[in-house]
Amino acid sequence: MTTTTPTPMRARQAGPLTGTISIPGDKSISHRALMLGALAVGRTTVTGLLEGHDVLATAAAMRALGARVEPPQSETGEPKSDGDRLKRTWTVDGVGVGTLLEPEAVLDMGNSGTSTRLLAGLLATHPITSFMTGDASLVRRPMARITKPLTDMGATFLCRSGTRLPMAIVGTDRPAPISYRLPVASAQVKSAILLAGLNTPGITTVIEPVATRDHTEHMLQHMGATVTVDSTPDGNAISLVGQPDLIAGPIAVPGDISSAAFPIVAALCRPGSNVRIPDVGLNERRIGLLTTLAEMGADITYENRRLQAGEPVADLVVRASALTGVDVPPDRAATMIDEYPILAVAAASATGTTRMRGLAELRVKESDRLSAMATGLGACGVTVRVEGDDLVVVGTGGKVPGGATVTTDLDHRIAMSFLVLGLSAAAPVAIDDATAIDTSFPGFAELINRACRQAEGEDGTLDGREVIGP
Ligand code: S3P
Repeated sequence: MTTTTPTPMRARQAGPLTGTISIPGDKSISHRALMLGALAVGRTTVTGLLEGHDVLATAAAMRALGARVEPPQSETGEPKSDGDRLKRTWTVDGVGVGTLLEPEAVLDMGNSGTSTRLLAGLLATHPITSFMTGDASLVRRPMARITKPLTDMGATFLCRSGTRLPMAIVGTDRPAPISYRLPVASAQVKSAILLAGLNTPGITTVIEPVATRDHTEHMLQHMGATVTVDSTPDGNAISLVGQPDLIAGPIAVPGDISSAAFPIVAALCRPGSNVRIPDVGLNERRIGLLTTLAEMGADITYENRRLQAGEPVADLVVRASALTGVDVPPDRAATMIDEYPILAVAAASATGTTRMRGLAELRVKESDRLSAMATGLGACGVTVRVEGDDLVVVGTGGKVPGGATVTTDLDHRIAMSFLVLGLSAAAPVAIDDATAIDTSFPGFAELINRACRQAEGEDGTLDGREVIGP
């Protein structure tokens, strides 16, 4: 199991954020690019890949399964998250659908639920035996949601406590196609079944009563698979024709809206801010946060709208705004599932109350995010309540008291959310451990510090200390 030494970090009140903030590549699309590239015939090139720990776990796993996955050749240094992102090209030499090799060692998926669940789908319909584990966060997360349908397709799973990692996967040599109605709104479960359907003869169908991110469907189509989406009274029925030849080719990964969310909220909440965030993916199943912030009064404009590898992309210009509390309906949850922690931070400095409804799924993310946000905001002097599956935040209408140390529980989004809160707090906000941030947003603190520097005096700091630091 992966363990790291905790690195505490704190954020203090900041001046305005200005300039250009280049965010890392989309985590969901990066995982899928490596997995599908590894199953294609020939060489897939991937530019703009997220070089965070979660995606590097997928890269290592695909290598262990026989694919060649190479970082940009000319560079040997640390992965970066800056304007060079789109100039870095990864290459993946695939093995073809159905020919993954049995890995010799346990697959360590680190903190990454997406790597674990999607890969379990691929492995379920390959006739090999594999073992997976992960860090202290990942081994707490439920796996029954994937083992149930994948067992129906013929695989056998053995999990700790019945449903948790470590997990053994015995893939079937006679996969059976299924038609499966998702009991939870989950793109990971949908994708696990579709990826299992790749090496399954016949047609595998997933019915999703609630529409979730459709990057798997887009990329499968982009690589030549036949995927159809039919609207039914029960929701979309997504069908994949099994055993296609996936065609290798170039994939350009857009910036991650889920990572952009942190500098967006930071800029909205710091008076005088005006930042440009280029190349943000705006898949319509991912933009619930932007809809909600617009309702709260956020000044965000979209420039240079375009399509990149079938995904809508734009440059965002974000200006400081006076935000007002809103009621966020439960049917928006799937389109902003990872953004509730940072929305709760925006709500804490807004005027009025924000109620976020229908957040049961937040309890099974990298941490129990409902409880983490309620506890952390409460410790920072914000009035907050969990009512059933709703999170209710009473906005301070300006400065949050702050002055607490928040436990992040290996959750990158909890860590970044409370650092952003610290930028608007009367007293600094500390987190017990910042290491998880590297799973999705390497270089986060440096990017925020850089955006604050112009307003912070010539040496780039106020009183010699960075805005976010140890
Ligand atoms: C993801 C789906 C979501 C999201 C996660 C990434 C994906 O999880 O929270 O960060 O890439 O498919 P669920 O499918 O569990 O909602």
